[in-house]
Amino acid sequence: MSAGAGTRGLVALTGATGFLGSHLADLLLARGHAVRAAVRPTSDRRWLDPRVATVTAVLAPPRGLPDDADTAGLDELVRGADAVLHCAGVVRSPDDDGYRRGNVLSTRRLLEAAARAGTVRSFVLVSSLAASGPAGPERPRRESDPCAPITGYGRSKLAAEQMLAGDWPLRTCALRPPALYGPRDRAFLELFRAAKHGWTAQLGNVRALSLLDGRDAAAAAVLLLEDERARGPWFVEDGAVHDTPALAAALGAAWGRRVRCTHLPVGALRLAAKLVGRERAERLPLLAADRLRDAAAPGWVCDGSRLRDELGFGGARDLARGFAETLDFYRREGWLRAP
Ligand SMILES: NC(=O)c1ccc[n+]([C@@H]2O[C@H](COP(=O)([O-])OP(=O)(O)OC[C@H]3O[C@@H](n4cnc5c(N)ncnc54)[C@H](OP(=O)(O)O)[C@@H]3O)[C@@H](O)[C@H]2O)c1
Repeated sequence: MSAGAGTRGLVALTGATGFLGSHLADLLLARGHAVRAAVRPTSDRRWLDPRVATVTAVLAPPRGLPDDADTAGLDELVRGADAVLHCAGVVRSPDDDGYRRGNVLSTRRLLEAAARAGTVRSFVLVSSLAASGPAGPERPRRESDPCAPITGYGRSKLAAEQMLAGDWPLRTCALRPPALYGPRDRAFLELFRAAKHGWTAQLGNVRALSLLDGRDAAAAAVLLLEDERARGPWFVEDGAVHDTPALAAALGAAWGRRVRCTHLPVGALRLAAKLVGRERAERLPLLAADRLRDAAAPGWVCDGSRLRDELGFGGARDLARGFAETLDFYRREGWLRAP
């Protein structure tokens, strides 16, 4: 399918059927890029703008096949593209091989396809704060800090970033967003549902978080794509450090009611995981082994000031506005009804 006319060149995008990727596609189109997206036969395309051209591509072959199998779709994806924006990623896997395939191998295969295409000048990877590791509010993570990921997910995102440092004939950089919320996201839905009943929780030892609306994360990624000066890793956040009372206040303001905080200690989460059994715990959002490691950290705070100071990133929504707009979206879509 044709990628359509874009006055700013063609961007090959992965993950466009997901939460962040669909906002990336919308923003790229709005800024005059043409977009060609990788999809799978099983992808849910409900958020994908019909102006986005699609190509069925295997980002990483399934277990049992060689790592270099089935690259034709990737070559088609990047053919004639000026830039690649690699947003697809595996955020939950029962084992490290799932993370390796979904995050590291996919990045290597896309970089190789981009190099083969000969037209691609820029490659932006959507990485994560998890690649750098946890940090409390006193000393947020900065780009110059040595990385110390504590989960299989974080280690795979760091390994994907390290792929970028190879001898590629293109400019490479990585965006490291913190936890993202916003319209089309389901990860924060339970938090909003609990707040409707007047409750939120501090998970384990996590005293503070950086947060960002996914639409603002998309703006940061597109900035890295368009600004030729951008190289290497970049943090991004909404300019505030959020502790549990701040989170409760923003949820309360969105719902127009008082939201109280409770505390779920790490020990209680670990006990609950033990009681439900390892296999079942891996499928539960709060009890999977990586989530328990996340919850044992003192915080997940990063400092996005370099992106603001050096590349002029600004205008990110504050939490009150972002949560209010997210709640509006959940209401419109009927997502708050009991499942
Ligand atoms: N959400 C956050 O809080 C957050 C924070 C930091 C970083 N990130 C990063 O942001 C990116 C997007 O996350 P998201 O929250 O938007 O996730 P999402 O809604 O689950 O979307 C994931 C996207 O990646 C695609 N994908 C996943 N595994 C794939 C594979 N093996 N082959 C091909 N496509 C695959 C999915 O395709 P299908 O539609 O076909 O499943 C979907 O388009 C990820 O790289 C994630 O690590 C997210």
